[in-house]
Amino acid sequence: MSFTKLSLLCTLPLLALGAKFKRATPDEFGLFGYGQGFGGFPLFYADGYAYLGEPSSSNSSDPGVVTFTPSGSGTSQSWIGNPNTTLTNYTVSWSDVTFAVPTVSSSDRRVRFLTNETSDSDVVTTGFYFYGSTAFVVEGGKLESPWYALQVSERVHALYWNDTSLGQVPVILRNNPPSNPQNVPGISSN
Ligand SMILES: *[C@@H]1O[C@H](CO)[C@@H](O)[C@H](O)[C@H]1NC(C)=O
Ligand SMILES: *[C@@H]1O[C@H](CO)[C@@H](O)[C@H](O)[C@H]1NC(C)=O
Ligand SMILES: *[C@@H]1O[C@H](CO)[C@@H](O)[C@H](O)[C@H]1NC(C)=O
Ligand SMILES: *[C@@H]1O[C@H](CO)[C@@H](O)[C@H](O)[C@H]1NC(C)=O
Ligand SMILES: *[C@@H]1O[C@H](CO)[C@@H](O)[C@H](O)[C@H]1NC(C)=O
Repeated sequence: MSFTKLSLLCTLPLLALGAKFKRATPDEFGLFGYGQGFGGFPLFYADGYAYLGEPSSSNSSDPGVVTFTPSGSGTSQSWIGNPNTTLTNYTVSWSDVTFAVPTVSSSDRRVRFLTNETSDSDVVTTGFYFYGSTAFVVEGGKLESPWYALQVSERVHALYWNDTSLGQVPVILRNNPPSNPQNVPGISSN
């Protein structure tokens, strides 16, 4: 599906979507960002926030590509992140982190992760949902996907939710890696 076509899906009533593209959430998956200028950067964790790109280019002390597992079912799923142990063959300080997007009233617009030691009332941690292989959040009965990315350094893009105030560009998150991974070192196309 093209970027434009997917963009049109951004806000649709959930019930309007046929069962045709509905697909069970995989038991384990990575997320990959597709946007203008990059196609298939993996989602990685660094300092509690979500980024797209190369962890090795991050200035964080323990960045790592995230492997997600779903918790819960239907439209009230949470996605729990752990380091992808194939790619992260070093020790990181984080595990079992909960994927979260800011609520409308949150001033920090970055997509982030909660640990068992942090709580944050300004985030939504349920409603993550795949339509086909594309990641949405179910809010008020609608599939929402205002994911945006802001390049913060070479091959590192911070992931935002519903914010273009800094020049963020739209990005689509999918659970499948790019078919032509030549621009994404460390990611195989299997
Ligand atoms: C972890 O990374 C490897 C190497 O890129 C990849 O083959 C595998 O599918 C990833 N696993 C998950 C669950 O994302
Ligand atoms: C890492 O990079 C970000 C973005 O460039 C910057 O805001 C942050 O201060 C840096 N952190 C460290 C520890 O250098
Ligand atoms: C970790 O992975 C890197 C490349 O991804 C490799 O060069 C290094 O030898 C690996 N280290 C271990 C301990 O497996
Ligand atoms: C959080 O989880 C870690 C690892 O499982 C554990 O060592 C720690 O005690 C937990 N902290 C709290 C506050 O539950
Ligand atoms: C995005 O932000 C606008 C302005 O604050 C708000 O009206 C809208 O509901 C938000 N959309 C989502 C999906 O959070």
